[in-house]
Amino acid sequence: MSAMKTVNENIVEIKNLKKYYPLTSGIMKKVTGVVKAVDDVSFVIPRGKTIGLVGESGCGKTTISKCILRAIDPTEGEIYLNNEEGSYDLATLPENELRPLRKEMQMIFQDPFSSLNPRMNLFDIVSEPLLLNGMKNRTERQDRVEELLVKVGLRAEYMIRFPHAFSGGQRQRIGIARALALNPSLIVCDEPVSGLDVSVQAQVINLLMDLQDEFGLSYLFVSHDLSIVRQISDEINVMYLGRLVENGTPEEIFSSPKHPYTEALISAVPQADPDAVKNHKILIGEIPNPSNPPTGCYFHPRCSYATEECKVTNPKLTVDESGRTFSCHNAKDLNLTGLI
Ligand SMILES: Nc1ncnc2c1ncn2[C@@H]1O[C@H](COP(=O)(O)OP(=O)(O)OP(=O)(O)O)[C@@H](O)[C@H]1O
Ligand code: SF4
Ligand SMILES: [Mg+2]
Repeated sequence: MSAMKTVNENIVEIKNLKKYYPLTSGIMKKVTGVVKAVDDVSFVIPRGKTIGLVGESGCGKTTISKCILRAIDPTEGEIYLNNEEGSYDLATLPENELRPLRKEMQMIFQDPFSSLNPRMNLFDIVSEPLLLNGMKNRTERQDRVEELLVKVGLRAEYMIRFPHAFSGGQRQRIGIARALALNPSLIVCDEPVSGLDVSVQAQVINLLMDLQDEFGLSYLFVSHDLSIVRQISDEINVMYLGRLVENGTPEEIFSSPKHPYTEALISAVPQADPDAVKNHKILIGEIPNPSNPPTGCYFHPRCSYATEECKVTNPKLTVDESGRTFSCHNAKDLNLTGLI
């Protein structure tokens, strides 16, 4: 009887992740403060699923993405990558042990214009990771590039062209082909459609979903736009100033948000039918300075439901009796507005 190997159902498990940046001033680089870009964040990415990460600019989305790919070193916490061989803490793994795992995790960037080298043609761009990973035979690389270009909806003969010959949507497809080259299991997509027209956004999202079905890919999908995250995610994490404030399925989040910040983000989603959002909530005030965050609940200066407790005590992220996860002192007494 052969023993069946069980693989953890979560490809990634992030536990209490922190990334702090010291603030320095003067030529002596005296440390004058700290930016808590990511402050005690935990969540998982189930295998073959898409986890959305949403929040306003500067809330820490890219910092989390870079920590997962170990493009930067986390300050504290664990990031487990689980595969058939075992479970690896990416947060602390030395580079030589990290190297073989790197091809399992790829990234797609926001700006396809600047992320593609203008002096390389499509063949060089898409085949570079293959060459770096030992595929020396040019014909073999050509076959693979051809296959990848067709997979992302581009023509094989485009191989000899340069990025400037392509539209924004096509360039993002090139970036996706390159990311797929080494058969990754996880792709971190950081604002992958934010620079594209709405109709092109939908095409790229559909492509990502098709590729997920075909290859069983897992995605972390980062966007400041809740309506985009809703289209692709199995689960959504809402972030505010370095912290997670709510987690739920798109249905849960949109039909009955539990955190006032989520309610405000939903309210900001443009609607064809203005009556679709009852009691329109406008997100008032500026995003606070992350190096000098408010006391208590970070959202309290902008929250229309804030009470005295909110100014002093930071609400913990907890799961309520119905299984919903959020951090708000007053959530149980609020009847927040989603989309009808
Ligand atoms: N290298 C760095 N040094 C100092 N602070 C940094 C550094 N990188 C990011 N930060 C700060 O960390 C916080 C989180 O930044 P991050 O880029 O992760 O936000 P984001 O959610 O991706 O924002 P955006 O939607 O604008 O891309 C911000 O306050 C940012 O200024
Ligand atoms: S804890 Fe208070 S300030 Fe924070 S979101 Fe809830 S009601 Fe608003
Ligand atoms: Mg970012």
